[in-house]
Amino acid sequence: WDLFADDIAAILDLKRRRGAVILAHNYQTPEIFHCIADIRGDSLALARDAQGLDAEVIVMAGVHFMAETAKLMNPEKTVLIPSLHAGCSLADSITAEDVRALRRAHPGVPVVTYVNSSAEVKAESDICCTSANARRIVESLGVPRVIMIPDEFLAQNIQRETGVEMITWAGHCEVHERFTPEEIRTWRADNPDVAVLAHPECPPSVVAEADFSGSTAAMSDFVARGTHRKVMLVTECSMSDNLAASHPTVEFVRPCNLCPHMKRITLPAIRRALETMTHEVTIPPHLVAGGRRAVERMLAAS
Ligand code: 13P
Ligand code: SF4
Repeated sequence: WDLFADDIAAILDLKRRRGAVILAHNYQTPEIFHCIADIRGDSLALARDAQGLDAEVIVMAGVHFMAETAKLMNPEKTVLIPSLHAGCSLADSITAEDVRALRRAHPGVPVVTYVNSSAEVKAESDICCTSANARRIVESLGVPRVIMIPDEFLAQNIQRETGVEMITWAGHCEVHERFTPEEIRTWRADNPDVAVLAHPECPPSVVAEADFSGSTAAMSDFVARGTHRKVMLVTECSMSDNLAASHPTVEFVRPCNLCPHMKRITLPAIRRALETMTHEVTIPPHLVAGGRRAVERMLAAS
């Protein structure tokens, strides 16, 4: 922690002087998540809590699409992302023109878009969802078929839960697509008493091996219930690190994969962002109303 003390003190001071709040996703490293963040959580919590914040400046300790969502909810505020390279393989997999082509191919079928998407893609969508509310959002539409983009595995997992037919897109999370059912079986053989929690961005064959599937917030809640002394979170590595700090009596089995995008956000990068007020996230004005509508519909339905 001595290594971090100087940056943490500087960031806490800069936050006060700039009137800034720091939002941190569950995949941020513990020194960010536990020491400097004001609001922490999954993608849904970050989108929900970004609404109407009483702060001039919002720093997103997360990836670019999360900063864009915070900006959509606060168009008049300054939103900063500490690294412009903090992208997402899902958000990068699809463009607005791809969505228009899907609509032309499937007229009248509603488009449900995972928040892991760009503002231009959200603006072409009927409603957003996160991994925490995808099932509820799909069911709220009351239709037999939806276009669910861009995460193919999330769509397949939700199709299995809801029975709603999914028209999918071949986007994948580069972190969760790497887990395999064989790997889960091997870890379980060595740890027969473990509860396996898989994120729904994992392939359906991996989710089928798990005892529970849910968003990062749902995983936190599961661990906090204290029903299991040994858990395995089939997701990004920092998730277990952050929960281990809060739940020292729980043992974490760790078959994790790192998200290189989340890991571009560091204490020095956050300090620099607040010192220089960069990098400011902007959204072309013609995309704001449509993007915001899709996020607001999601929040209203969840
Ligand atoms: P949630 O925190 O919403 O479960 O999302 C996981 C993720 O991969 C975010 O990029
Ligand atoms: Fe995107 Fe996957 Fe990284 Fe989340 S973990 S930001 S979905 S690449």
